[in-house]
Amino acid sequence: MKNVIILGSTGSIGRQAVEVIEQNRDRFRAVGLAARRDLEVMSTQIKALAPAAVCLVDEEAAEMLKQRLGGRGPQVYAGHDGLLEMITSVGADLVLAAIVGMAGLEPVMRALDAGMDVALANKESMVVAGELLTSLARARGARIIPVDSEHSAVFQCLQGSDPDEVERIILTASGGPFRDFSLEELAEVTVDDALRHPNWRMGAKITVDSATMMNKGLEIIEARWLFNVDYDRIDVVVHPQSIVHSLVQFRDGSVLAQLGYPDMKLPILYALGFPERIRTEWPRLDLTTVSKLEFEAPDVTRFPCLALARRAGKLGASAPAALNAANEVAVDYFLRRQVRFMDIPRLVEAVLDRHDLVPIRNLEDARRVDSWARRQVRAVVGGGL
Ligand SMILES: NC(=O)c1ccc[n+]([C@@H]2O[C@H](COP(=O)([O-])OP(=O)(O)OC[C@H]3O[C@@H](n4cnc5c(N)ncnc54)[C@H](OP(=O)(O)O)[C@@H]3O)[C@@H](O)[C@H]2O)c1
Repeated sequence: MKNVIILGSTGSIGRQAVEVIEQNRDRFRAVGLAARRDLEVMSTQIKALAPAAVCLVDEEAAEMLKQRLGGRGPQVYAGHDGLLEMITSVGADLVLAAIVGMAGLEPVMRALDAGMDVALANKESMVVAGELLTSLARARGARIIPVDSEHSAVFQCLQGSDPDEVERIILTASGGPFRDFSLEELAEVTVDDALRHPNWRMGAKITVDSATMMNKGLEIIEARWLFNVDYDRIDVVVHPQSIVHSLVQFRDGSVLAQLGYPDMKLPILYALGFPERIRTEWPRLDLTTVSKLEFEAPDVTRFPCLALARRAGKLGASAPAALNAANEVAVDYFLRRQVRFMDIPRLVEAVLDRHDLVPIRNLEDARRVDSWARRQVRAVVGGGL
């Protein structure tokens, strides 16, 4: 039996992880759940999973949950510090990190520091502090197992191979809802358009990131740290059907890929069950009904976020943290309809252009860069772009 803590249990990944655990109660037990403030979904999950502890970061929501539970059920933690405390005091074999954004970094560090394995969906934490997280995991003997479908694919292809034999990693990208749009059309897209992803149902932030292709940019940086491969050996190929989830090319020229229908439950299950493959009754891939698998090169003129992320990754040090924070704020402005779609890359570029690199040696360094970059975006938007 594996004891699991789900961070971000009320989100898109979190809810799918709960489903996976419900379908495999003989293997996994959810001992802790955490979210920001979604009282209703958290209450349902408490009934379904009977965890030992839960946390709502929003203190008011946590208080309401306590009143609702009336002293029965799990121990309720509140606030950001409560979340960190819950991770260490409950303890688990595996922590599923599915909080969105930079807010997920400290909980991931806390779990790794306590020697717990982390199933990582929260790619932003790896972007902000990849070197820090991978060295912390090494030092504590904890594993970081990818949940992102592309990185799960690469991870699966790498099983049983020698890292020295890897020549290239090829990440696939759906291209998002605007794959065929011209620059003029991209300038006009609305929030509703951006939230309509053709293949995946996800949280709002990652859906917008997929539309700008910043998501793929963040994934390049994530792959660099997860698989210890230079940026020049990580490629992106647009694959609209999202059936081939990513590929690894080896030094003999052989290429391995992992395929499946676009459904995050599979990479979630693989990460929870690793190293075992757990039997499922989910639909099997029928290539004759898929019939067409297309691939094309990404266009960084129409999707500049991809090039910006690569630039930040290659600059190293604090550049990815600045890029990530700028993107989080820019996406938030876009979702609140205060900037336009193509302002997102403009804002990120403006921040990268004015950023002086500093090393990220600890959480405080990461936080300082993060706050600085957020202030820069607000200043640019406040100044009328
Ligand atoms: N969705 C996907 O298919 C997918 C695929 C690959 C990778 N990912 C990655 O997985 C992560 C989660 O994505 P998602 O789509 O599941 O996002 P989502 O649906 O927006 O869910 C985010 C979760 O994080 C919680 N949360 C937000 N801010 C928090 C904070 N400050 N402290 C504690 N909890 C907080 C939310 O709680 P409330 O509900 O209470 O607000 C919710 O449970 C992201 O990093 C994303 O890039 C997602």
